[in-house]
Amino acid sequence: MDLYEYQAKNLFARHGVPIGPGQRVADDAATAAVAAAEFGVPVVIKAQVKAGGRGKAGGVKLADGEVDARAKAGAILGLDIKGHTVRRVLVTPASDIAEEYYFSFLLDRANRTFLAMASAEGGMEIEQLAAERPDALAKVPIDPLGGVDLATAKEIVREGGFPAEVTDAAADVVVKLWETFVAEDATLVEVNPLVRTPDGEILALDGKVTLDGNAAFRHPGHAEFVDTEADDPLEARAKAKDLNYVKLAGQVGIIGNGAGLVMSTLDVVAYAGEGTGTRPANFLDIGGGASAEVMANGLEIILSDRVVRSVFVNVFGGITACDAVANGIVRAFQLLGTVDKPIVVRLDGNNAAEGRRILTDAALPGLSQVDTMDAAARRAVELAIEQDA
Ligand SMILES: Nc1ncnc2c1ncn2[C@@H]1O[C@H](COP(=O)(O)OP(=O)(O)OP(=O)(O)O)[C@@H](O)[C@H]1O
Ligand SMILES: [Mg+2]
Repeated sequence: MDLYEYQAKNLFARHGVPIGPGQRVADDAATAAVAAAEFGVPVVIKAQVKAGGRGKAGGVKLADGEVDARAKAGAILGLDIKGHTVRRVLVTPASDIAEEYYFSFLLDRANRTFLAMASAEGGMEIEQLAAERPDALAKVPIDPLGGVDLATAKEIVREGGFPAEVTDAAADVVVKLWETFVAEDATLVEVNPLVRTPDGEILALDGKVTLDGNAAFRHPGHAEFVDTEADDPLEARAKAKDLNYVKLAGQVGIIGNGAGLVMSTLDVVAYAGEGTGTRPANFLDIGGGASAEVMANGLEIILSDRVVRSVFVNVFGGITACDAVANGIVRAFQLLGTVDKPIVVRLDGNNAAEGRRILTDAALPGLSQVDTMDAAARRAVELAIEQDA
């Protein structure tokens, strides 16, 4: 889960990382103006979106006083930054900046380790720095058991080329960033820019944090960061029902059991639809159990997607036999009442014959069965095209 800058900096503050003299979040220009008036000094108004390059997109502006803050916040709210609409701004006192640095801790999956990255040339986009001046960006693997103590932190900032006079103060902040990374089970903690003020203070003026969703059970407090409004509404509903659902751009709804089978179902449907513009509408893995309730929940989500024209249910019976899945589909139809889109079912594997018989006998409206995965994908695509004709 990615956090907004203000959330990241709140986490930093809890772990003793200095973030400057306060911050306020506003979702309208009037609130931003009040915050600016209360700070009583020039402020920076910053778009809160989960995308980089906000400054370049006009999402970071300096404002002097209440009136200016209202105008600047008004200009930033509603902006579209890389497909994200700005719904909130951060208002924070403008800091005097002598130098800008870059610092991050991250999980380096390719090398199976944690990594610290540090550079005395902060501010600009790190991808650009890494590409143009790789020697200016230190990359230091971190021993997960040893962690980062003050001595290690000093070594990292030295390798990053931080000036000697800030080594101690920067290393102190780096240790606290490592504490944040570990204590919060983060996979990324990034500060760009980490600044030095003219009087030698080190401040995190920006923050990017990714929390490891697999560790969510250890952090009930992280629930406050879940941001349902930014998710796709169907994905949010599916998540609430514990379904493994990802919305895609096409018209053929997909339900399968097992992530691997669903992935290959997406492939065969995309292949069957090649040249027609017909594509899979979603990924939905109903997993091993495939009970009637799960089937009904899955169908309900997919059928409520306005762009879906047909649905392909692709099940390979393993531990869950096909007759149980077929009964689940029959009861799902009862739970749903009306099903107004054509559904193609392919059952194979354990007890397939019995499962097919159950569906044939039930004669569910709009439901047809096809024996092979390829032929079923072609049928689902044909039906989707017919619906639009
Ligand atoms: N509190 C502040 N006081 C003074 N200047 C600031 C402050 N916050 C940000 N800035 C200036 O604005 C620049 C851009 O800010 P920031 O890094 O937060 O956004 P960004 O880099 O454009 O966005 P992103 O990090 O999403 O790519 C900083 O490099 C810094 O020069
Ligand atoms: Mg930044």
